[in-house]
Amino acid sequence: MGDVGWTDVLASGDVAPGTVVALDVDDRELAVWRTASGVLVACAARCPHQWSHLGVAGVVDGEDLVCLSHWWCFDTAGRGAKVSMAGRRDRKSDVATFPVRERDGRVEVLLDVEDATG
Ligand code: FES
Repeated sequence: MGDVGWTDVLASGDVAPGTVVALDVDDRELAVWRTASGVLVACAARCPHQWSHLGVAGVVDGEDLVCLSHWWCFDTAGRGAKVSMAGRRDRKSDVATFPVRERDGRVEVLLDVEDATG
C-alpha cells in the first residue's frame, strides 16, 4: 500500500468475477473487470472500434470483455478480436491495459505505464 505510482481505485469486492466497472481516474476513463475465473484487468475504457465505453457497453464473457456495440472482444492482455459465425477469432485493434493488483481488499492500478501490447 502506498507504493509510488499505484492508484487505489475501488474495493476488490466491487468487481466480482464476471463483472465490469466504469471508473474515471485522473481524467482517464477506465474499465476494470474480472474474468469468470477471477483474473482482474484494468483497461482503457473506449472500444477502439467506434469508441463505445466498455465500462457501460461491455460485458464479461468467460475470460473476455465483449463490446456489445458490434461484438468485438478483448482478452486479459487487451488483444482485440471478433469471433466469426464459424467460431474463428479474427484479430481486431487492441485496447491499452494497465498493471493492476489487489492489496488489503483494494484494487490498485498503475496508470503511468501503458501496456504496449499489439
Ligand atoms: S464500438 Fe465496440 S465493437 Fe464497435
